[in-house]
Amino acid sequence: MVTSSAPGKVYLFGEHAVVYGEPAVPCAIERRARVTAEEIDEGLVVHAEDLQLDGFTVEYMDEGTDHPDVDAENSLLEAAMGYVNEAVAQVRDAADAPETGFEIWIESDIPLGAGLGSSAAVACAAIDAGCRELGVDLPPEEIADRAYQVEAAVQDGEASRADTFCSAMGGAVRVEGDDCRRVEGVGNLPFVIGYDGGAGDTGTLVAGVRQLREEYDFAADTVAAIGDIVREGEAVLGTEDTGTLGELMDFNHGLLAALGVSSRSLDTMVWAARDAGAVGAKLTGAGGGGCIVALDDTDAALTALKYTPGCDEAFRAALDTEGVRAE
Ligand code: PMV
Repeated sequence: MVTSSAPGKVYLFGEHAVVYGEPAVPCAIERRARVTAEEIDEGLVVHAEDLQLDGFTVEYMDEGTDHPDVDAENSLLEAAMGYVNEAVAQVRDAADAPETGFEIWIESDIPLGAGLGSSAAVACAAIDAGCRELGVDLPPEEIADRAYQVEAAVQDGEASRADTFCSAMGGAVRVEGDDCRRVEGVGNLPFVIGYDGGAGDTGTLVAGVRQLREEYDFAADTVAAIGDIVREGEAVLGTEDTGTLGELMDFNHGLLAALGVSSRSLDTMVWAARDAGAVGAKLTGAGGGGCIVALDDTDAALTALKYTPGCDEAFRAALDTEGVRAE
C-alpha cells in the first residue's frame, strides 16, 4: 500500500482562454489531495470520504455500479467518479497490467469543482500511487501527461494541460497548447482565497464559452485579450511590481465576467477583497461559483472576506513549489 499527494492550484491568469491556445499561468498552492492505492485481485474499490460535494460524502465501490447513494449534483458526482476510473485506466496502461485490481482511498483538502484544481490533483496523486504500488516510477512530466488524458476523457476533450501540469510539477507554470514549462524565480505570492461553498461544472462552463465565441466576435476578441493580459503579466511576474500584477488580475476578472463565467458570489468576493486593499482579485478556474484569488500581504482582504455574505471560507494559500510526491 502506498500513498501519494499532489497540490491544488490557482490561476494567476488565463483560464478558459488557455483552452483556445492562449497562454495561462497557474500556480500550485499548499492544499493537497492524497491518494492511497493497494493492489487487489480484481476490480476497483474506491473510498472517497473527503470528496466534499456541498457537505455530502461520496463512497462508491466498483466502476460498474450505479450512483452512490448521496444527494449531490449528478454531473459533479459523475465527474468525480470519472476521474478516478480514468486514472486507474492510466495506471493499468502505464504498468502494462490491464487486469490489475485496486482498492483506493482519497482524501483531499481541496474543495471539489471550486476552481482549485481538485480533479487534477486527485488524478496526479492516483496515477503516482497506483504506479508505485505496481513498482513503476513515472517522471512527473509523464504523470502530467497521463493526468491530462484523464481530464480530457472526463471533460469530453475540453481540457487544457494547465491544471494537470501545474499539479504534477508544482510552483508557477506556463502552459500554451502543448508547450508546458515551469516559471522559475517567482518567489512567494501572498494568495488569499475566498470560497463561496459552491461549485461550477467545468464542462458546461467551457462549452458555454465555446458557444459564445462561435456566436459573437466580441467573445473571440475577449479570449484573445486574456492572452494579451497573460503575456503582460508574465513580464512582471517575479519582479517587485505586484501593483501591475494585481491590476492585470483585475482586468482578467473583468474579461472572464464578459464571457459569462463569473457569478454574483464571485463578484461580491472579488470586490470585498479589492475594497479591503488587495492589489488584485479575480475568480480562479472555470467559474460559475467556487473560489476567487486575491493578492494581499496584509490581513485586510482575508478579514474582509471572512465577513462577506456569501463567502463560506477564506484562507491563505502559499505557493507550493513541490508537485506530485510520495507521502
Ligand atoms: O475549475 P478548474 O480548476 O477545473 O479549471 C478549469 C480551467 C479551464 O481553463 C476553464 C479549463 C481547462 O481545462 O483549462
